[in-house]
Amino acid sequence: MIENALQFSHTLLAEVLTDHDHVVDATMGNGNDTVFLANKVQPHGKVYAFDVQKQALDKTKQRLLEDGLTEQTKIIFDGHENLKNYLAENEPIKAGIFNLGYLPKSDKQLITTPTTTKQALETLLNHLVSKGRILLVSYYGHAGGKEELTMLDNYCQKLPQEQYNVLRYQFINQKNRPPILFCIEKNVTIIFLKSSSFYNGSILLFLKSIIL
Ligand SMILES: C[S@@+](CC[C@H](N)C(=O)[O-])C[C@H]1O[C@@H](n2cnc3c(N)ncnc32)[C@H](O)[C@@H]1O
Repeated sequence: MIENALQFSHTLLAEVLTDHDHVVDATMGNGNDTVFLANKVQPHGKVYAFDVQKQALDKTKQRLLEDGLTEQTKIIFDGHENLKNYLAENEPIKAGIFNLGYLPKSDKQLITTPTTTKQALETLLNHLVSKGRILLVSYYGHAGGKEELTMLDNYCQKLPQEQYNVLRYQFINQKNRPPILFCIEKNVTIIFLKSSSFYNGSILLFLKSIIL
């Protein structure tokens, strides 16, 4: 069976995560992604998980406790738009996930918004290491969802090809507007430097931050 957006987001994360990585769950909710990430980066990595609803924090904390994953997880009661306040200046981040929209069986008015999602995404991109990935699962059936999807589409399409590979993944024959997955992967940075003093005009090739 072809994986749905949620399943495929985890597959794409699992491909790159190691037990030393620092990662971000921008929308903790019931903790499904937080628990998944914590399992992948244990025992040496770290998960930063954000939400603005106390019930999301309580539920996630409980699940982390049950699974013995509290050590490597930092639960943050704040909006992801404030992400920069929680990361060290040059802290390398290997991956992030945004599961957008509202918390299932909860207040449907309390949704992620284009402005704050974009802010968090920009911060995350500044910290993302080469080969790092950001996954965004966009739901657009609820009020406000379409605006967020439009922002994401525009933003992602404008990311320069030299620096990022960007994927949009969706079923196009399903009813009830199934979520759309975006994956942003940072390319390996290659810097060419011309040096006449050392090698008389030859070109030095530096591969920067292949492994961080
Ligand atoms: C679709 S749910 C996330 C589901 C979750 N990833 C899971 O595994 O259960 C979206 C969540 O985003 C949260 N949210 C809304 N605005 C937010 C913001 N500015 N910063 C962080 N979380 C936010 C909501 O409270 C809600 O819990």
